[in-house]
Amino acid sequence: MKKKMTIPDILKMKQNGQRITALTAYDFPFARLVDDGGVDVILVGDSVGVVVAGHATTLPVTMDEMLYHVRAVIRADPKALVVADMPFMSYHTGIEEACRNCGRMIKEGGAEAVKVEGGSNMAHVIRAVSSIDIPVMAHIGLTPQSVHRMGGYKVQGRSDQAERIMDDAFAVQHAGAFAVVLEGIPAALAAEITAELTIPTIGIGAGSSCDGQILVIHDILGLCEKYSPKFVKRYADLSPLISAAVTQYVAEVRNGEFPTEEHSFS
Ligand code: KIV
Repeated sequence: MKKKMTIPDILKMKQNGQRITALTAYDFPFARLVDDGGVDVILVGDSVGVVVAGHATTLPVTMDEMLYHVRAVIRADPKALVVADMPFMSYHTGIEEACRNCGRMIKEGGAEAVKVEGGSNMAHVIRAVSSIDIPVMAHIGLTPQSVHRMGGYKVQGRSDQAERIMDDAFAVQHAGAFAVVLEGIPAALAAEITAELTIPTIGIGAGSSCDGQILVIHDILGLCEKYSPKFVKRYADLSPLISAAVTQYVAEVRNGEFPTEEHSFS
């Protein structure tokens, strides 16, 4: 049986040159499937707001919604390390509130680590939260909660911005993050950051040189047709399968083919 993944295990993977695999999950059945598939890290991402709740951005997601999804994932008893994403405005207004909200994800949700978006600007939060023994995964580059500042979901760190992203990477490591997500940055910059940092880098749209990769489960299964970024690889196309099953069910109920005796009690 697979052993439970811990923070030291994730750190060791970088030291041993083993690639870290991560996917999102937001509920019990997907947490079970993703965990059975063997991922090292499950992120209960605030992407739930887009791919499950149908919002245009992750910004409306609340603490209570995240806690609901974290608890559902934890009930699947995953062997993967479970990281809870901190929603917009849950860690922005001060260290005390950030620590309290991150603590809720661990204490009430059952997560084993939290993720916050931001680099140098969030170093004080990462330092404070890490100092009370809540492991923090940082997230720099294209940070979806900064959609309005960025003017859309645009690749970050091209040309003169590269130095700022490199500074962010060092700032989050120095502040105590145990890992950092690099999203939507040029592959060469991600390779440089990965070589410079001692903590693992987990890439999404950041090329192949990162210490690990993460994608949104709905994207790789073809369950989110709203948008499909260039960095997503679709490993299955489930939407037509689900539609066909629903269409067949509707037809069979209408024409009396379902239920049969097999599905009835005597
Ligand atoms: O919310 C999310 O799913 C994420 C990952 C895609 C990194 O932040």
